[in-house]
Amino acid sequence: MLVVLFLLLLALGNAVEISGEEVGGQCNNTKQTLQPRPHSVSILEFGAVGDGKSLNTIAFQNAIFYLKSFADKGGAQLYVPPGRWLTGSINLTSHLTLFLEKGAIILGSQDQNHWDVVGPLPSYGRGTELPGKRYRSLINGYKLQDVVITGDNGTIDGQGSVWWDWFSSGSLNYSRPHLVEFEHSDNIIVSNLTFLNAPSYNIHPVYCSSKLSDSSEGVCIEDCTISTGYDSIALKSGWDEYGIAFGKPTRDIQIRRVDLQSSTGAAIAFGSEMSGGISNVLVEQVHLYNSDSGVEFRTTKGRGGYIENVMISNVELKNVHKAFGACGQCGSHPDDKYDPSALPVFDHITIEDVIGTNITVAGSFIGIKESPFTSICLFNISLSINSGSAPTWECSNVSGSSELVFPEPCPELKSSYSNSSSACYSLSTIYGKATAL
Ligand SMILES: *[C@@H]1O[C@H](CO)[C@@H](O)[C@H](O)[C@H]1NC(C)=O
Ligand SMILES: *[C@@H]1O[C@H](CO)[C@@H](O)[C@H](O)[C@H]1NC(C)=O
Ligand SMILES: *[C@@H]1O[C@H](CO)[C@@H](O)[C@H](O)[C@H]1NC(C)=O
Ligand SMILES: *[C@@H]1O[C@H](CO)[C@@H](O)[C@H](O)[C@H]1NC(C)=O
Ligand SMILES: *[C@@H]1O[C@H](CO)[C@@H](O)[C@H](O)[C@H]1NC(C)=O
Ligand SMILES: *[C@@H]1O[C@H](CO)[C@@H](O)[C@H](O)[C@H]1NC(C)=O
Ligand SMILES: *[C@@H]1O[C@H](CO)[C@@H](O)[C@H](O)[C@H]1NC(C)=O
Ligand SMILES: *[C@@H]1O[C@H](CO)[C@@H](O)[C@H](O)[C@H]1NC(C)=O
Ligand SMILES: *[C@@H]1O[C@H](CO)[C@@H](O)[C@H](O)[C@H]1NC(C)=O
Repeated sequence: MLVVLFLLLLALGNAVEISGEEVGGQCNNTKQTLQPRPHSVSILEFGAVGDGKSLNTIAFQNAIFYLKSFADKGGAQLYVPPGRWLTGSINLTSHLTLFLEKGAIILGSQDQNHWDVVGPLPSYGRGTELPGKRYRSLINGYKLQDVVITGDNGTIDGQGSVWWDWFSSGSLNYSRPHLVEFEHSDNIIVSNLTFLNAPSYNIHPVYCSSKLSDSSEGVCIEDCTISTGYDSIALKSGWDEYGIAFGKPTRDIQIRRVDLQSSTGAAIAFGSEMSGGISNVLVEQVHLYNSDSGVEFRTTKGRGGYIENVMISNVELKNVHKAFGACGQCGSHPDDKYDPSALPVFDHITIEDVIGTNITVAGSFIGIKESPFTSICLFNISLSINSGSAPTWECSNVSGSSELVFPEPCPELKSSYSNSSSACYSLSTIYGKATAL
C-alpha cells in the first residue's frame, strides 16, 4: 500500500505518477503506521549543514545506515530540523520515518553528478525520454517495508528547473529523475509535506503493493493539493512490449478529496503507458480546475493491456478546456519492436455527479476501430459550456449510456442508462455491496 495524504505539489512535471485498497471513505492502515518510532536522530548528528550550499548526501546516507540497525526494534525516525538541506540521490531503509520539521527544506542538487544513474524499469525497457539508463530519484526506496515520509509541512524541493533546461535543449545524457520513487515496496505513507519543482515526476511508486503504483496495487491518494505543468495524477503500467511482458497491473487505486490543477495536461490521467493493465480505480470528491483536461484516458494500438472498472464521482470542474477525454491514438512507442495488433481494451468506465463551469469541450471519446471503447456510463453531469468553437461532444468507436447529462451527449453514448446499468461499473461493485447504482 502506498498512501499519500495532505500534501502539496507545485510546479513542473507530473505530480503523482502511479505505474502499478482499501475502500470506504478513507485510506486505512495510516493510523498504526504513523505511530511514533521509538528511536529518533537528527540529521545534525551526522554533520549535515543546512545552509543550502553544503552537500549533505553523505550525512543522509550515514544517518540512514545507522538507523537501519533499529529496523527490528520498532524502526526509527530521521529528524530534519528547519534549514535548507542540499543533497544528491539518497536511499531510504525499511521501518524508517523521515520527518521534516516546519521550515525544513530538502533541496535537490543541481549538479547531475550528484544523482546516481540506474538501468531502465523493466516494464519500460528504456528511459522514458532517452533510450538506455535513467537518473535515480532524489529520495529512493527499493524493496522496502513500512516507510513514512512526513513532517509539519516541510518541503522537498527538487530545484528541477535545470533538468527542464537540459531536457528542452537536448543536452540530457539520461532520462530525468523524479523527486521520490519507491520500487517493489509495501506499506509506504507520504503525508504532510510540500513537494516543489520536480525534475520530472514528484512521487513515483512502481511495482508496489499491499503484499507487494507504475504497476502498483493499493495506492491511496487523499487530501492533496497538486498544481503541475503536466498531468497532476497519472496512472500507468508499462510501455508496449516491455509492459506486456512484465505484466504488472496498476489496480485498487483510490483518489479522494484532492484539488488538482494541470496547466497543459490532465488533472487525472490514465496511460498512455498502460500495457500491464489498469483496473479498479475509484476517484471521488475531486476539484479539478484551470486545467487543459479534467480526466483523460490515453492509449494506442500496440499497448495491449486494459483500462477497466473505473468509477469517478462527485467531481467539480472549473475553467477546464476539456472535461473528459478518452483517446485511442495517443502516445508514442518505445521502439519499433511493438506489436501493432496488441490492442488495448477500454471498458466499464462510469462518471457521475459532475458539475462544471467554464468548460469548452464536454467530452471527446475517440476509440479504436478494431477495439472500440465500451460501457462508458455517464450519469448526472451538468456542464456549463463557454462560447469556444470546439465541438461540445466528439465520439467515435465508443459505446455507452447516459442519463441526466447536459449538454446532451453524442448518440454513441445515449443508449438508455437503465437498460445498460448492469454494464456500468458502480460504486457498489467496488464496495462489494449488493445495492444498485
Ligand atoms: C483496508 O480495510 C479493509 C476493510 O477492513 C480490508 O479488507 C483491507 O484489506 C484493508 N487494506 C489494507 C491495505 O490494509
Ligand atoms: C542506492 O541503492 C542502489 C540500488 O538500489 C545502489 O545502486 C546505489 O549505489 C545506492 N546508493 C547509495 C548511496 O547507497
Ligand atoms: C499532519 O501534521 C499534523 C500537525 O503536525 C498532525 O496532527 C497530523 O497527524 C499529521 N498527519 C499526518 C497524516 O501525518
Ligand atoms: C504548507 O506550505 C506551503 C508552502 O511551502 C503553503 O503554501 C501551504 O499553505 C502550507 N500548508 C499548510 C497546511 O500549512
Ligand atoms: C553529458 O555528458 C557530458 C560528457 O560527460 C557532460 O559534459 C555533460 O555535462 C553532460 N550533460 C548533462 C546535462 O548532464
Ligand atoms: C475559462 O477557462 C479557460 C481555460 O479553459 C480560461 O483560459 C479562461 O480564463 C476561463 N474564463 C474565465 C472567465 O474564468
Ligand atoms: C447530481 O450530482 C450533484 C452533485 O454534483 C448532487 O448534488 C445531486 O444530488 C445529484 N443528483 C442525482 C439525481 O443524483
Ligand atoms: C472508427 O474509427 C475509424 C477510424 O479509425 C473511422 O473511420 C470510423 O468511422 C469510426 N467508426 C465509428 C463508428 O465511429
Ligand atoms: C431498453 O430495453 C427495452 C426492453 O428490454 C427495449 O424495448 C428498449 O428499446 C431499450 N431501449 C433502448 C434505448 O435501448
